[in-house]
Amino acid sequence: MQPAGISLSFLLLVVLETSNFQSCVARDTITSNSLLPDDGTTIISAGKGFELGFFDPEDNINTGRYVGIWYYNLSPRTVVWVANRDAPLPYVPGNFSIGEDGNLKLVDKMGTSYFNTTLERSSPVNRILKLLDSGNLVLIDGSSGNILWQSFAEPTDTFLPGMTMDGGLKLVSWMAIGNPATGSFTFEQDQENRLPKIMKGKTAPHWKSDQSGSVELPYFVAFFLSNFSRSVDQATYKSSSAYSSKNPGSAITSLNYSDELESYANTRLLMNSSGEIQFYRWEQDGWSLMWKEPHDACSVYNPCGNYGSCNLKSGGLNCDILPGFKPVFPDAWKTGDFSGGCERKLDICNMPSKPDTFLNLKLMKVRKPDILYAADREDTCRQEYCLSGCACQAYYYAGFDNRSRNNGDGSSCLIWTSELTNLQEYVDGGHNLSIRVPVSAIEGTSSKRENPPISGNRVTVIIVTTVIAVVLLAGTLTCSFYRRIIAKRKETEKSIPGNPMPYLDDSERQAAEMVDEDDKFIDVPYFSLESILAATNNFSDTNKLGRGGFGPVYKGIFPEEKEIAVKRLSSHSGQGMEEFRNEVVLIAKLQHRNLVRLLGYCIKGPEKILLYEYMPNKSLDTFIFDEGRCILLDWNMRFNIILGIARGLLYLHQDSRLRIIHRDLKTSNILLDEEMNPKISDFGLARIVQGKETEANTIKVVGTYGYMSPEYAIEGLFSVKSDVFSFGVIILEIVSGKRNTSGFYRSEEVLSLLGYAWRLWQERKALDLVDKKLLESCNGTEVMKSINIGLLCVQDDPSDRPTMSNVLIMLSSETTTLPSPNQPAFVGRRRTSSTSASLSSKAETISINEMTISAEDGR
Ligand SMILES: *[C@@H]1O[C@H](CO)[C@@H](O)[C@H](O)[C@H]1NC(C)=O
Ligand SMILES: *[C@@H]1O[C@H](CO)[C@@H](O)[C@H](O)[C@H]1NC(C)=O
Ligand SMILES: *[C@@H]1O[C@H](CO)[C@@H](O)[C@H](O)[C@H]1NC(C)=O
Ligand SMILES: *[C@@H]1O[C@H](CO)[C@@H](O)[C@H](O)[C@H]1NC(C)=O
Ligand SMILES: *[C@@H]1O[C@H](CO)[C@@H](O)[C@H](O)[C@H]1NC(C)=O
Ligand SMILES: *[C@@H]1O[C@H](CO)[C@@H](O)[C@H](O)[C@H]1NC(C)=O
Ligand SMILES: *[C@@H]1O[C@H](CO)[C@@H](O)[C@H](O)[C@H]1NC(C)=O
Repeated sequence: MQPAGISLSFLLLVVLETSNFQSCVARDTITSNSLLPDDGTTIISAGKGFELGFFDPEDNINTGRYVGIWYYNLSPRTVVWVANRDAPLPYVPGNFSIGEDGNLKLVDKMGTSYFNTTLERSSPVNRILKLLDSGNLVLIDGSSGNILWQSFAEPTDTFLPGMTMDGGLKLVSWMAIGNPATGSFTFEQDQENRLPKIMKGKTAPHWKSDQSGSVELPYFVAFFLSNFSRSVDQATYKSSSAYSSKNPGSAITSLNYSDELESYANTRLLMNSSGEIQFYRWEQDGWSLMWKEPHDACSVYNPCGNYGSCNLKSGGLNCDILPGFKPVFPDAWKTGDFSGGCERKLDICNMPSKPDTFLNLKLMKVRKPDILYAADREDTCRQEYCLSGCACQAYYYAGFDNRSRNNGDGSSCLIWTSELTNLQEYVDGGHNLSIRVPVSAIEGTSSKRENPPISGNRVTVIIVTTVIAVVLLAGTLTCSFYRRIIAKRKETEKSIPGNPMPYLDDSERQAAEMVDEDDKFIDVPYFSLESILAATNNFSDTNKLGRGGFGPVYKGIFPEEKEIAVKRLSSHSGQGMEEFRNEVVLIAKLQHRNLVRLLGYCIKGPEKILLYEYMPNKSLDTFIFDEGRCILLDWNMRFNIILGIARGLLYLHQDSRLRIIHRDLKTSNILLDEEMNPKISDFGLARIVQGKETEANTIKVVGTYGYMSPEYAIEGLFSVKSDVFSFGVIILEIVSGKRNTSGFYRSEEVLSLLGYAWRLWQERKALDLVDKKLLESCNGTEVMKSINIGLLCVQDDPSDRPTMSNVLIMLSSETTTLPSPNQPAFVGRRRTSSTSASLSSKAETISINEMTISAEDGR
C-alpha cells in the first residue's frame, strides 16, 4: 500500500507542477511556494472560465481591495465570490497564499489577517489551491487528492452550476451594488419544507416559495438548485412555460431548461442587494434576466400585513382594507406603511344569537390553509367545518372532488384557523375565499354610503338569512329522519352479525340522526351499550387490557368469536353528542396501515366508547422493556417498526385530511399486529377530549411524562414538532431497550435516556446505547442512523427538530449524511421528578387550566 500511495501522490505533484510550469503566465493553482500578490497577477482556470485575483468593486473606489473570483474576460466584470467581503484591505499590499499551517490566508505586510480557512494544521507543501473551470476554488490535499475546502461550500451571493442548495448553503446579498460587505438578504432553504426562501435580516421572511398555497418555483430553478438531480419531482413545480407569463423575465419558453444541462452553461443565481433572487443567463452581449422573485410588490412576503389585501392597481404596492376590518396602525397605514396589517373591528363568534356571515372574495391568493376536510357540498364546509367552531377565520370550497372520497389527497374544504396572511387580489387563478365576519361588523360598513367597500364590486357581501337556513335545515332533517334511521339500522345489523336488532334509545336515535349524507360511504357502525357490556363481561377486570391516557381498554368478544378492543373514554369534556359523533366520523376516515382501525362507537348517557381492531401482540412496550420478550424483536423488526411509526405519523401530520397531532405518542400506544407491524393507536383522541379547540395553546394538556416535549409540558404549546419529540424518545427506547424515565440513569449520573444517549453520542460511543440482546442482529449503519435521527428529534428547540417527512427521507435513504444534533431537551435541567402526575399544573404553567399526565403503563 505504502509505495503505491507515495508514487501516486508523487505523480500528482509532478503533473501539477508541470502544468504550472507549462503555463506560467496563466496558471490555475497556488502552491506553498507560489503565492498570489496584489500586483495585477491573477489565477485563471484551465479552460479560461473564471479568474481569481485582487480587485476593486465597480462603482466603488473607497472601500478597499478584495480577493475574489469573476468570469474570465467578461465585461463588465461579474464577481461571483469574495474571500474577504467584510474585511477589505485598506489599500496596503497583501498576499493571498497557503500559509505555514497549511491554511489559506490573505495577509498584509504587518501580518494582519483579512481572510483565512480554519483547517487542521498541516505542512503547506502538501496542499494545492486550484481554480476549477466551474468557478470552484478548491484546496486539495496533494497526497490523497481529497478536497479539504471549497468556495462552492461557502458562497457569497452567487449560486453557480455544480453547487447544491441544501440545509447548509446560504447566499447572502452584497450590502449594495459595488459593496461586497454582508447585506441584509439571505437566500436559503426552509428547514420545514425544504423549499427555498429569502430572509430579510435573521428572522423576517421576505419571500417564500409557497406563500400563495402552491409552490411558486419553476422546475428549472429547482433542478438547478438540486445540482441537476433527476430525483427532483417535476410535478411539484411549475413548468417554465407556465411561469414566463407571470414572471417578467424573458425568453424562458424558447429554452428547454428542464432537461438539457448545456442550457445551464453561463447561468447564475444572484441574491441581489435589492432583495430579489435573480436567475441570469449570458447571451451574446450581456446578462439576460430569466426569472426573479419577488417578481412584484405583492409577491413579497405578507406585504400588507395580516388581513390586508394586496393589489397592483396603482402600479406599485397598494393595500386594501376589507369590510369589517381596520388597520392596526391607522397613521402608518395612511403614509403607505402597511406592514402592521389589519385587525377585526369585532370578534367573530361572540353573538350566539346572530351567526357570523362571510365576505366572498373572488380570485384571492392567500397562504396555505390550516386544515383540510373532505366535503361534498359547500354548505357542509361552511356550516360544519367553519361555523361550528370559533377558530375558523375563512374557508374555501374547492368543489366536489371524486378523489376526496377514497383517499386523503383531494380534500375539498379548506379551512384557515389563524390570521390570514399574503392576501392578494389575483388577476388569474386564486381562490374564491370566504372570510368570516360578524354581521354587525359589516352592517356598519355597508350603511356608510359614502364609504363603499374598498375593494369595489369584487367584494360581495353575502348575508345569510338565518331564517331561511333554519327552515331549510329543519325541512331536510324531517324528510330524511325515518329514511336515515332505517338505513342506519340496516348498517348496524350488517356490521355486527348475529346481533339482533340493536335497541335504539333516545340518545342513540339522536346520534343516528346526525348522520350526514357523506357518511354513507364510511363504515363506523353504532354499537349498542348492551352488546358491549355483554362482550366485555360488564367491563370486568379480567377483560381489561390496559389503560391509556384517555381511559381503560377492554377486550370484547362479540358474536362469532370476533375479538375487538373496547376503549372506554374517561373524558368529562362536556362535549356534546353531536360533536363527539362528528369527531368519530372524521377519525374513522383516517385509514393507514400503520394506524389502528376504528371499528365502531357507542354513546349512551355519560358513556363514550370506541371500538378498535384487536391486536393480539399487544403494545411495543411489552416487548422492548421485557427481559424475556425483548429477544423476540431482532434489529430488522425494530427498524421496520421505527419506519412504520414514522409512516403512520407522517400520514397523521401531513397526508391525512385532518392534520392530526397525536399528543400522546408513546411505546404503549404503538400496537403490534400478527406480523409485528406497528400500528399507532389513540390518535385523534386529543381532539375528542378537547372538542374543536384548534388553538396552539391548549386548555388541557394530555401527555405522558418522559415523552412530552419541553414546550408542551411547560408552556402547553403543541405542534407537529411535539409529536416529533415523542417519536425521538421512542426511537431511542427501541434501540436501547430502556425507558426514558427508568431509574437506571441515576447510576450513570444523567437524568434520563436522552441525557445518557447524548453523552455517549458526544463521547463517540453511541453504539454502546444498543440493547445488549440486539448486538447479534444489529446493523451498525442503521443503528447509528436511528440514534442520530432520534437525537435530532428530541432537540430542545422545536424548530431544530426535523419534520416527519424529513425523518422518513433520512430513515430510508442509503447515503445521506445526517445533520448533527444539538443537546436534547431535559438534559441540563434537573427536575424534581418523582413519577407521573407530580407535574402539578399550578406551579409550573401559566396558561394551562388542567393537565392530564398519565403514568406509563401497558395495555
Ligand atoms: C508577499 O510575499 C512575497 C514573497 O514571499 C514577499 O516578498 C512580500 O513581502 C509579501 N508581501 C506582503 C504584503 O506580505
Ligand atoms: C482565522 O480567522 C478567524 C475568524 O475567521 C480568526 O478568529 C482567527 O484568528 C484567524 N486565524 C489566524 C491565524 O489568522
Ligand atoms: C454536483 O454534481 C456533480 C456531478 O454529478 C458532482 O461532481 C459535484 O460534486 C456535485 N456538487 C455538489 C456540491 O454536490
Ligand atoms: C425538453 O426536451 C426533452 C427532449 O430533449 C423533451 O422530452 C421534453 O418534453 C422537453 N420539455 C419541455 C418542457 O419542452
Ligand atoms: C440587482 O437588481 C437590479 C434590478 O434588477 C439591477 O439593476 C442590478 O444590476 C442588480 N444588481 C446586481 C449586483 O446585479
Ligand atoms: C365523479 O365520478 C363519476 C363517475 O365515477 C362521474 O360521473 C362524475 O362526473 C364525477 N364528478 C366529478 C365532479 O368529477
Ligand atoms: C369563483 O366564483 C366564480 C363565480 O362565482 C366562478 O365563475 C369561478 O369558477 C369560481 N372559481 C373557483 C376557483 O372556484
